[in-house]
Amino acid sequence: MAVKIENVGVLGCGLMGSGIVEVAAKAGFDVKVREVSDEALDAGKARIRKSLDRAVKKGKLADDDAKVAWTRIGFTTQVAELADRDLVIEAVVEDLEVKNELFQELDELCPPETIFASNTSSLTITDMAAATQRPSRTVGLHFFNPVPVMKLVEVVRTIVTEDEVFDAVFEFAGSLGKEPITARDNSGFVVNLLLVPYMLDAIRQLERGVATVEDMDKAMVLGCGHPMGPFTLCDFVGIDTLHRISEIMYEEYREERYAPPPLLKRIISLGRFGRKSGKGFYDWSGDEPVPLPV
Ligand code: 3HC
Repeated sequence: MAVKIENVGVLGCGLMGSGIVEVAAKAGFDVKVREVSDEALDAGKARIRKSLDRAVKKGKLADDDAKVAWTRIGFTTQVAELADRDLVIEAVVEDLEVKNELFQELDELCPPETIFASNTSSLTITDMAAATQRPSRTVGLHFFNPVPVMKLVEVVRTIVTEDEVFDAVFEFAGSLGKEPITARDNSGFVVNLLLVPYMLDAIRQLERGVATVEDMDKAMVLGCGHPMGPFTLCDFVGIDTLHRISEIMYEEYREERYAPPPLLKRIISLGRFGRKSGKGFYDWSGDEPVPLPV
């Protein structure tokens, strides 16, 4: 079956979806993005606009290129509008049922050659592929936050992925200006398999009273040259997202290092979801983050 990727559809215009839309449009692809409501779509639109403006301001993108990229993006609330896409990337909530419902809806609408991809952090691609009539044309395309800045994309193949499909998607990731790597379809792929236990372990050490949030962050930035410490990173990824990923990975591997520490749950109960909600391990409402009680 023919493999071509000339236009792209994205399901979800949240933090990750909006970034994927932006990089695809900047790379010259015609992109359509679908959100569940006009409100969510408007928020996604504003996020993309802000990021393009930031790239121009930072000298990363010419003003004219930002304008052209913007014209390549179509916004919709209708899944059916993505029926003409060569590649559809889902970046919706980390819930297998929600993802599979969307893929099954699209499966009926799209021609058989359309490739499905998931930006899942921790679910397996096989569990999505198996829910469609096109398991050999369903792959993983895992981007990193902030998508316009982070160079890596994990391209994930299952045991039934067609070689031509994998190669085309791998090439597509490269054409976005990213550095793709090949990952096997195991929960967490490569990065989250290593990064999630690191973040969870920082929380466990905090529970043990090893040091303060601020000092542990400082330690990893100044001692290891990380761009941000583990608690800033937790707030950046989203406390609720980290918790969800942790639960999925724990269920998969049944290894303690993936289990959500109790403190993570307490922070969520308090409605502290990280930077996006204004509070997580830090209060982000002012100019500088302020550590909160833990
Ligand atoms: N478009 C293009 N480039 C942009 C941009 C935009 N919208 N915004 C910023 N940039 C560029 C800047 O120009 C700058 O480039 P330069 O170094 O060449 O000058 C670079 O990006 C960094 O930007 P800033 O100077 O504004 O910001 P910082 O230096 O404070 O860096 C950060 C911010 C990139 C977020 C950095 O702190 C970082 O790398 N943090 C770690 C992020 C991380 O680990 N992400 C992975 C999370 S895990 C994940 O996503 C997986 C998921 O499944 C959980």
